[in-house]
Amino acid sequence: MTLIKTVKQIREEIKKRVNEKEISIGFVPTMGYLHEGHLSLIERARKENDLVVVSVFVNPAQFAPNEDFDSYPRNIERDYRLAIDFGADIVFAPDVDEMYGENSLTFVNVEGELTRKLCGKSRPTFFRGVTTVLAKLFNIINPTNAYFGQKDAQQVAVVRKMVEDLHYDINIISCPLVREHDGLALSSRNVYLNDEERNQALILSKSLFAAKEMFLNGEKNVHKLKQFIVDNIKSQNLADIDYVEIVDANTLEDVEIIEKTVLIAVAVNFGKTRLIDNIYLEVD
Ligand code: PAJ
Repeated sequence: MTLIKTVKQIREEIKKRVNEKEISIGFVPTMGYLHEGHLSLIERARKENDLVVVSVFVNPAQFAPNEDFDSYPRNIERDYRLAIDFGADIVFAPDVDEMYGENSLTFVNVEGELTRKLCGKSRPTFFRGVTTVLAKLFNIINPTNAYFGQKDAQQVAVVRKMVEDLHYDINIISCPLVREHDGLALSSRNVYLNDEERNQALILSKSLFAAKEMFLNGEKNVHKLKQFIVDNIKSQNLADIDYVEIVDANTLEDVEIIEKTVLIAVAVNFGKTRLIDNIYLEVD
């Protein structure tokens, strides 16, 4: 069990443990403040790999200047303990300087619609930050399998594309979205919500579940389902909708009538807190 802060040391540590044996490395990248969503990824990685590495790094490159990089919740001692308890062998928690030297000029960017729509529209530099830090982390850790949550469905699609395009020899494994008992999708940002906002935020999962019910009862029209969700969310006076979209689950392309599995994805601001949620409507 090891907490490591430098690239040199984690490379040596992994080399030592791999020690010319054929071992699999499972990697769970996070920004910390771990909750059960993160922990489900660590548990899955533990089951499927010989060595499990969890990174905890609040990545400045994926925050716009007006976003919450400074206030993003951090607690490395707690994260370290939880990660180890749930099966990590190594926690890699570098400082910003360790990941981005003063002269860091290289960025990895997945171009095109994939990163321009949904979250990419209101956060135009977000995915560039995500793929840049993941390219660095993949190069440092050399994982066999890397674990991501479906909570961030677009992120999974973007990472898959980067891995394909850059010929990384890494399996990207996406894991189910974990919710609170009342349906709220777990997120490190939920701690920002006051009681009233948290209460109203339940409308996200409620309207997604209700839309799924409508779909199961035969509604295939995307426009009608979208309108239903928008109306529901707007019933809460603190909800400020960024987007409600229904897209092809694989390509994230727009659809009109549901004939293949789709993803309903929503992003809504409650006060200063931006929440995302999603659900799949499956067609065999
Ligand atoms: P972070 O938001 O900390 O999430 C780390 C991983 O946990 C992501 O793969 C995310 O999808 C997953 N996750 C978060 N909430 C979840 C939930 N409720 N259920 C299941 N999985 C959940 O995503 C990031 O960090 C960053 O963008 C990162 C990939 C680490 C790059 O900086």
